[in-house]
Amino acid sequence: MIFESHAHYDDKAFDPDRSELLNTMTENGIDYIINIGSDIPSLQKTLDLAKQYPFIYGALGIHPSDTASLSEDNLIWVKEKIQKEDSKIIAIGEIGLDYYWNEPEHKIQKFWFKKQLELAHELNLPVVIHSREAAKDTLDILRENNVSEIGGVMHCFSYTKETACECLNMNLYIGIGGVITFKNARKIREAAAFIPLDKILLETDCPYLAPMPYRGKRNNSTYLTYVAKEIAAIKNTTYENVCEQTKENALRLFKINKSTLFT
Ligand code: NI
Repeated sequence: MIFESHAHYDDKAFDPDRSELLNTMTENGIDYIINIGSDIPSLQKTLDLAKQYPFIYGALGIHPSDTASLSEDNLIWVKEKIQKEDSKIIAIGEIGLDYYWNEPEHKIQKFWFKKQLELAHELNLPVVIHSREAAKDTLDILRENNVSEIGGVMHCFSYTKETACECLNMNLYIGIGGVITFKNARKIREAAAFIPLDKILLETDCPYLAPMPYRGKRNNSTYLTYVAKEIAAIKNTTYENVCEQTKENALRLFKINKSTLFT
């Protein structure tokens, strides 16, 4: 009953037991998973995972920290893959800005963020946005590039409720993951209380950011139960309602037709 909107099962952290783990997802209530591309090698692995598992969909894009060696040819390759091969690629991402790290320089990150937003417009796909310590520039670029026309999700939301409000005004969903269970997560809990439940997506960002009580360990989609329970407590609603509503949100944003899942 859970839609996992942001996972990296291509990551080498899953090399020892990837297929064993993925084969337990359905029995653990994980109905859908979106595997998110981050660098060039991960894109082909995302395509492969989406082909192999009926419940895995993919997003193709280059993470801001991996844009230094990106070329126009790489984006042409992405476009061709999506147009010619694979209807299970349902978003462009993750793309955005990461100013926590000094490299690549901001100018390069912004250039490729805009280029990938253009690609999303061209393909009429929503975007999965990574934004860390870069709220103002991210919002400016999203606004200038009319993100409200294609839609998207602010993944691993780490900003204030005021920033959440600006995102909602631009037709964006907000991705919430394991961080909300951490003791020091007051800001994100406040934002979650403010964001309407019909605009929230559940996400792990696995193998990173495992929720309590697994903080620091390898994360996986089955731990989303802890995130959903935390959101239910904050919103004074049931766990089932959080799972059901966030799943509907993801199906709506990524335009996934439920009847196609097991065909
Ligand atoms: Ni990610």
